[in-house]
Amino acid sequence: MKLFIDTADLEQIKEANSWGILDGVTTNPTHVSKTGRSPRELYAEICRTVDGPVSLETVSLQSDQIVEEARQLARIASNAVIKVPIMLEGLRAVKRLTAEGIKTNVTVTFSPLQALLAAKCGATYISPFVGRLDAVGHFGMEIVRQIKTIYDHYGFSTQILVAAVRHPTHVLEAALAGAQVCTMSYDVMKQLYEHPLTDIGIDLFLKDWKKVPQT
Ligand code: E4P
Repeated sequence: MKLFIDTADLEQIKEANSWGILDGVTTNPTHVSKTGRSPRELYAEICRTVDGPVSLETVSLQSDQIVEEARQLARIASNAVIKVPIMLEGLRAVKRLTAEGIKTNVTVTFSPLQALLAAKCGATYISPFVGRLDAVGHFGMEIVRQIKTIYDHYGFSTQILVAAVRHPTHVLEAALAGAQVCTMSYDVMKQLYEHPLTDIGIDLFLKDWKKVPQT
């Protein structure tokens, strides 16, 4: 499963990139607003920093405008993927962008039927927001499993990108469900390395090593 970082913070992206496990980046308007930077320049820098796909989100609401915005974002870099919210006008745009060879990440997804529509329009990625579903009393990961079943049934090539991840267990469940990608915050990505028994184990080995005669 590919691991993407969900942020527009360049320092976090650079640090995670240095770990050797980062496959891509997802940004969104909220992340960009926190940086205080102009999007175009920021996007170009993120795309230069990471080899893998970088999702850049459109904010238009009509398909013609979404397509135009997407074309401009796609020109920023060859690894730009255009994030389009899953609404009727958004999917109209995705169909056209797919025909133009522009990669898309259909976002703000909360149902497997929305995911079916996105796949029919040729979306490159579908992003179910699992943590936001959990927060309103649903089982977010259940829709990931349902999307996987539907896509496998019909041989859709759209990749499942699990998003709005809140903790490492979401990442584990995404991997077990066979999602192709999981995007997460810097903090969750760092947590994947951590286990208290590993710390205790290393500590013990280092203490015992001090007892070994060093010749
Ligand atoms: C993913 O692509 C989204 O940017 C992200 O996961 C949004 O979710 P959140 O704001 O609920 O974390």
